[in-house]
Amino acid sequence: MEKHANIGSAAGGPSAGTSYEPSILGTVPSTGTAIHLVNDDVLQTVLHRYRDQIFYLGQVYGSTPKLPLWFKHFGTGPDGAGEAYHLGVFGKTGSGKSVLAKMALCAYMRYEQMGLLILDPQGEFAKDFRGGGSGEMRIPLEGVAKQYKKQVVTLSVRNLVLDRWELFQEILFESDFFQQLTMPKGDNRRDACAKLADELKKKKVELEDLHGRAAFDKAWKILADAKVQQVFYRTAPSRDRFESARADANPDEFFQYQWQPVTALFDKSRKGAKTVEAALNWLLDLSPANGVRPVLVIDLSREQARGLFWTDTIQSLVIKRLLDGITTTAERRFQDGNEKGLNTLVLMDEAHRLAPRHLPENGNAAAGVRGVLIDAVRTTRKYGLGWLFISQTLSSLHTEILQQLRIQFFGFGLSMGQEFQALRQHVGGDDSALRLYGLFRDPHSSFDISSRQYSFMTTGQISPLSFAGTPLFLNAFNRVDEFLAANGLSIPSTGS
Ligand SMILES: Nc1ncnc2c1ncn2[C@@H]1O[C@H](COP(=O)(O)OP(=O)(O)OP(=O)(O)O)[C@@H](O)[C@H]1O
Ligand SMILES: [Mg+2]
Repeated sequence: MEKHANIGSAAGGPSAGTSYEPSILGTVPSTGTAIHLVNDDVLQTVLHRYRDQIFYLGQVYGSTPKLPLWFKHFGTGPDGAGEAYHLGVFGKTGSGKSVLAKMALCAYMRYEQMGLLILDPQGEFAKDFRGGGSGEMRIPLEGVAKQYKKQVVTLSVRNLVLDRWELFQEILFESDFFQQLTMPKGDNRRDACAKLADELKKKKVELEDLHGRAAFDKAWKILADAKVQQVFYRTAPSRDRFESARADANPDEFFQYQWQPVTALFDKSRKGAKTVEAALNWLLDLSPANGVRPVLVIDLSREQARGLFWTDTIQSLVIKRLLDGITTTAERRFQDGNEKGLNTLVLMDEAHRLAPRHLPENGNAAAGVRGVLIDAVRTTRKYGLGWLFISQTLSSLHTEILQQLRIQFFGFGLSMGQEFQALRQHVGGDDSALRLYGLFRDPHSSFDISSRQYSFMTTGQISPLSFAGTPLFLNAFNRVDEFLAANGLSIPSTGS
């Protein structure tokens, strides 16, 4: 902190005493210069003007004052950045990224004009919004939303309605349906899924009706058609084997155990069902009834998918659909005369799994997500949509995305090999910053929970103290009440 200690020096001239000019201590100050140790009081006085905008996630690393940060919304005005920007939070598993992101989310929830979308692969944000989360540091997202009158809607795969035939095709391909009919994953199965979808469409079956017995019976009959079978099996012996498996199968069981778990994802009549499109339109409505833009949480956890066919690949496919939707809906909404921009933040946890630089083998779905995501990050900013990525690794996230980030937080665990190279590149070889970063301790190496430290290095224009362009260092609050009190957030009464 000493490095920035002269932030408090009063500027000369007529406005002395009311305004301050930041500068960097380049030389030893002349004899007689007043020096003040930075503490909370000094910072508060110096930053008085920004009082309402400042938000705290923790204390200055290795010291006691709270590190003043600002999380501006993407609109205009004193609290606004005037445009959307992207943020990233990095660190190895357990370094406190998700907790830090939840705290930052609270900062953004203060703005009524800001919409928030959370893509939640583990369902942990959804849990916290329901008030049922766990962990040492449970941020009461439900209470903070209530304080700022934010309406929160959580959609899980139980009520998110998929609305594209291509998705049906791909999900059917991934499922066991054709496996049970002796057809392994491969080109034949791909052809069969495409053909079946085509034939169903020709028979005027709607996607949302696929889950019914009538649609299944049609599908079953289509698959019995020799002409259809010829499309996916050229040779007679293959067709015979397929047909005998089909004829031997019990259609009732097939309907219940193979067909329904897949087609239920398209069923609009489920309780609380919302299509991807309807949900996004709701989120991006810039003048909601109560005047406060809402929070939409998409819970994509396996836990919510009981009774549905759900795998990592399906999760990727659904995320891809959402990303497609975000880009197109944002574009449309923007062109509908919302030149001021959509003022919406999209938070994506576990981005390393969704936008890897190197694709896993058979990673078709992941490849799709990556492409769409890179595109979304590039294009949506001009519509006023910013992203917050949370990722365990820097090196796995596509360079194109990393380059687009304006604000970054680096937690513990990036000081080896590829990760360190990426970090070093990012801070432009600032050795003193890297040395300080290197001192971060693994929070989980300490047995004593209360002494665990969740440290972060942050870069970008995140603080009134960022003027020097050097990274800032903080220890995240490790008590919920401290965090709430520092930011004037109400503490939800326990037990209710
Ligand atoms: N600032 C903090 N103070 C106290 N405990 C914390 C803090 N941050 C995180 N923890 C605790 O540490 C554990 C891991 O935190 P968190 O889930 O945020 O890690 P993560 O970086 O998101 O890990 P992963 O990459 O595996 O998702 C949790 O039990 C959490 O409650
Ligand atoms: Mg996490």
